[in-house]
Amino acid sequence: MKLWGGRFSKETDTQVNDFNSSIAFDSRMYKEDILGSIAHVTMLGDQGIIEVEEANEIKSGLLNILTEIEEGKIEFSIDAEDIHMNIETKLIEKIGDVGKKLHTARSRNDQVALDLRMYLKKEVEEISGYLLDIIETLVNNAKANTETIMPGYTHLQRAQPITFAHHLMAYVEMFRRDYGRIKDCYERMNYMPLGSGALATSTYPIDRQKVADILGFNGITLNSLDSVSDRDFTIELASAISIIMMHLSRFSEEIILWCSSEFAFITLDDAYSTGSSIMPQKKNPDVAELVRGKSGRVFGDLMGLLTMMKGIPLAYDKDMQEDKEAIFDAVDTVKLCLPVFTKMVETMTVNKENMRRAAGKGFTNATDAADYLVKKGLPFREAHHVIGTIVAYCTTNQKEIEELTLEEFKSFSDIFQEDVYKAISLETCVNERKVPGGPSFIAVNNHIAFVEEYLKGLK
Ligand code: ARG
Repeated sequence: MKLWGGRFSKETDTQVNDFNSSIAFDSRMYKEDILGSIAHVTMLGDQGIIEVEEANEIKSGLLNILTEIEEGKIEFSIDAEDIHMNIETKLIEKIGDVGKKLHTARSRNDQVALDLRMYLKKEVEEISGYLLDIIETLVNNAKANTETIMPGYTHLQRAQPITFAHHLMAYVEMFRRDYGRIKDCYERMNYMPLGSGALATSTYPIDRQKVADILGFNGITLNSLDSVSDRDFTIELASAISIIMMHLSRFSEEIILWCSSEFAFITLDDAYSTGSSIMPQKKNPDVAELVRGKSGRVFGDLMGLLTMMKGIPLAYDKDMQEDKEAIFDAVDTVKLCLPVFTKMVETMTVNKENMRRAAGKGFTNATDAADYLVKKGLPFREAHHVIGTIVAYCTTNQKEIEELTLEEFKSFSDIFQEDVYKAISLETCVNERKVPGGPSFIAVNNHIAFVEEYLKGLK
């Protein structure tokens, strides 16, 4: 007999029974369900809606169930549909009729809205920790590479020299924004929906604020229809997670390029690479590729949630049961990716000479050569042209700009003097860019110091 079976004269069709059931994927919210019920029943007792002794009996019954679940002693059943009714059924089995009072002044609609918020709050805290870990790892790696010159790219063509630290710190900024985004999500999901009932609250003198206080919410939700019928907090979290995955995916792409023989900028640790079953020489960046690949499924989770929600009328509709697999998958995936990616970055070797050699090829100092002429009085557009013809000459003669003799320089413009060599050295190109945000040793060190303070404030 279903908990809701009163008005039915037939058993549910077995296929419908399976189809309708969410226990296979919502059982992970067992703890939140029990803690939510304990808070609810405490309030019911305090408000005189049920007897305090009854509330206490229910509480200890629920705590027993919690222990038994954690000891693996409880098997959930598809017949009881979802985690909420599985636990309620067990409770009634255990403590008898008094257990039937738990669901007074409550609906599964506000119950599931509560459980999901509680569950996701906990997950956001864990993901936030992983974000701080990757930020810290990148900062440490950057500290060791503030003088490691590498080519910076646009269009994946060598553009201007930067340092590896500057490149890593770019990702630090992305992950700091990601951290801010999921913290914002947390703030918005931190309002307690219980008491909204099925859609229109209840006639009992419930104390919603008390439940919010017991469960550590920032406050209560302010409209019962909204509380049971929106899942924007899952969409917002899936968006924030999608952005994290997008950042991880770009970073993965760079790592994959960098550890190819064509770049050879980094070498991944053997423990974070994998081999080929046929080609004995292979050492593949599978971790980075999997992270890049998994970003796709998370974007899919986000699209699934948006599409599921977009046409459903207020208030609760069963479509919303589909929220869980999507948001849980997004959460699980990012929790899988962040720590392993962090370790991969932490253990990789930076091939400083190769980076420097690459920065010395491809005319990455051409802008600085033009600026040299500008600083000696030539208008920038003319300087750009002169250096352009020098680059063409160098390409034909297979030389770098700094390999030209002073005579060769002077054949393009008599402004050139001996000091041109220093002006276009890679070190000068990097370290003269001292404006905040730039690649110079000083600017990047300032940035690192700033982020270290930021981390201290958060850890
Ligand atoms: N398992 C349901 C869900 O995840 C719980 C809410 C069910 N409410 C209802 N009226 N059928 O959405």
